[in-house]
Amino acid sequence: MVDITDHPGFLYCCKKQGCDVIVLPMTFLEGISKNTRYIEDRLAVLYDNDRHFGFKPIVLQLIGKKIEAIKDVFNILSSYEIQGVNLNMGCPSGRIKAQGLGASILDRPKDRDAVIDAVLKSSPVPLSIKMRLFGKEKSDVPASISFCKMLETKGIDWVAVHGRTGRQRYTGPADWNAIKEIHEATSLPLVGNGDITCWNHGKRLVDEGSCDAFMIGRAAWKDPRVFSHSYNTAAVKTMADALVLFREITGFVIANRGHHLEPLLVSHEIRKVAVALSRQVRGGKKFRDRAVKASTIDEIEALFVSIQGTSR
Ligand SMILES: Cc1cc2nc3c(=O)[nH]c(=O)nc-3n(C[C@H](O)[C@H](O)[C@H](O)COP(=O)(O)O)c2cc1C
Repeated sequence: MVDITDHPGFLYCCKKQGCDVIVLPMTFLEGISKNTRYIEDRLAVLYDNDRHFGFKPIVLQLIGKKIEAIKDVFNILSSYEIQGVNLNMGCPSGRIKAQGLGASILDRPKDRDAVIDAVLKSSPVPLSIKMRLFGKEKSDVPASISFCKMLETKGIDWVAVHGRTGRQRYTGPADWNAIKEIHEATSLPLVGNGDITCWNHGKRLVDEGSCDAFMIGRAAWKDPRVFSHSYNTAAVKTMADALVLFREITGFVIANRGHHLEPLLVSHEIRKVAVALSRQVRGGKKFRDRAVKASTIDEIEALFVSIQGTSR
């Protein structure tokens, strides 16, 4: 997820809790070849073999349709031992769709198939696709199935299906009936996605035959413990729990600040982590109102402690 799943402290925390595979946020094909610094900075710590942080396997997500950039991109990436590449065909943002990318590339077969074919040809690692459901206000299951069947014949490794159409953005519940129908109609390994609250929830969906694996987004950003097999969504999350997670995430960044992580220690980055972790916690609103004025890790930690004290 943009601005989230490239935070090494957050990823470290998720991996510790049991997350199996990391998919990095979408990176523009054109952007990688024009500005290698971003990718180098982000990947350096994740791929720091000497430290054995255990981030792998890591899947790098690409978005774009500039075929001429693809060769350059794979030349740059060749130093990083990437385990997989994923193409984003699901982003619903107006800015992305206006460029004919993300979810809207699904309806542009010429661009869509050209980029899939070109990446398949250049990529030394397995290629997967992240997609939204076909359709507008309602899911178009037959069109989604025929696209997945085409991916299967092309030799795509797996597909992640977010159970909403691009037009639906985040409204309404994810359509898990549609995901299950696609799964039953194709043999392409399917990673289901949308509204999963924790590992046990995802496991249930796998056991029911809705998907082969699952992907958790927003719930993990609020609480990386959702990847733990023993996580219980009914248990009350306290400020003390949030503080432990905050210390783990910022502690990782501090310990590795020499590895291009300095920018993650500026106040708005620290606040971003704290605000996310304070979601679904009693006293969270009060915390967020006050966190606006906090600018250091110590101030944020003190705020967690003081609000914990007043919200029992
Ligand atoms: C802030 C934010 C950034 C996101 N960035 C990406 C992205 O870069 N690539 C992607 O495939 N999906 C991205 N997503 C979508 C999520 O991966 C996921 O498909 C969606 O949130 C539904 O899953 P969830 O209900 O588990 O969050 C993003 C979502 C959010 C909220």
